Amino acid sequence: MSKSTSRTRNANAVVTGAGSGIGRAFALELARRGSRVVCSDIDGDRVKETVSMIDRLTSGRAYPVFCDVSVSEDVDELAAQAQDWFGEPTSLMVNNAGVGIGGKPVGEIGIDDWQWALGINLWGMVYGSEKFLPQLREAGRGGLINVASTAAFSAAPGMAAYNVGKAGVLALSETIAAELGGTDLAVTVLCPTFVKTNVAVDGRITADASKLAGTLMRYTGLSPDRVAKGTLNAHDRGQLYVVPQLDAKAIWSAKRHLPRTYTAGLGLLNRILPQTGTPSAVPALTPTVGE
Ligand SMILES: NC(=O)c1ccc[n+]([C@@H]2O[C@H](COP(=O)([O-])OP(=O)(O)OC[C@H]3O[C@@H](n4cnc5c(N)ncnc54)[C@H](O)[C@@H]3O)[C@@H](O)[C@H]2O)c1
Repeated sequence: MSKSTSRTRNANAVVTGAGSGIGRAFALELARRGSRVVCSDIDGDRVKETVSMIDRLTSGRAYPVFCDVSVSEDVDELAAQAQDWFGEPTSLMVNNAGVGIGGKPVGEIGIDDWQWALGINLWGMVYGSEKFLPQLREAGRGGLINVASTAAFSAAPGMAAYNVGKAGVLALSETIAAELGGTDLAVTVLCPTFVKTNVAVDGRITADASKLAGTLMRYTGLSPDRVAKGTLNAHDRGQLYVVPQLDAKAIWSAKRHLPRTYTAGLGLLNRILPQTGTPSAVPALTPTVGE
């Protein structure tokens, strides 16, 4: 790794789910910052497209790897290929790959869908952390960015399988942050509400919930580029939490300070509003990334 004081510049970076949305934005921004980027995804065509976009940048250096993050051996292979291509340990791991699931209450979700969602959204991030931490420790400076969601603490009805996975990612990130205390490695956990990506159309979301999520995303969502840049800047500052939008901050604050009122209010909203199955029952306000 370069002698630069920045964790995100001239890094040896790996991004999962780099074929679309926030993951592609992370990969492109890291390349613009002079980092070498291993771009991995379960969709080989999409990830090659991201690598071609990086190749067109003057400083762009990227390498595509197929990886299903829910498969332990695939993540082992990703870690090995990354170290081979860099010729040294990975210094920045971005655990980003994730899928949307929502629209049904607990009792109607079905165990197959629970396992599918937790396999990617929770186990994917566990594998990415467990298998890359040894390389990060060897690199000595850099860190881990885990993409959670406001769903990690919003407890929105109809979103249990998504909420549980993201709450696990938040707990995982906080624990690793404590374990890395006193080192030059940082952990950042990203908890946005809506970001304009394919997550609402590609996942297992009921038609009504997907339509509503698509509308909210279109009108209130931040651009993936803005989220990626803000998160990388926060990571450079060693910031643990990135809660980029005002609605996310309002939920975070209400949940911590008035937990019973928050849950009762959410239950009331759920009874009087159409079933949303979306990550936030509170309208989005002006976004402020990376504060
Ligand atoms: N878009 C939002 O509003 C929003 C809000 C909060 C959190 N997030 C989180 O952001 C992350 C990125 O999602 P996005 O919004 O960019 O969605 P996206 O659908 O645009 O991109 C997700 C990428 O992950 C890949 N992927 C899916 N399953 C995979 C697997 N098993 N292994 C490897 N790659 C896989 C997809 O092929 C795709 O390229 C996810 O963890 C998501 O939960 C998104």
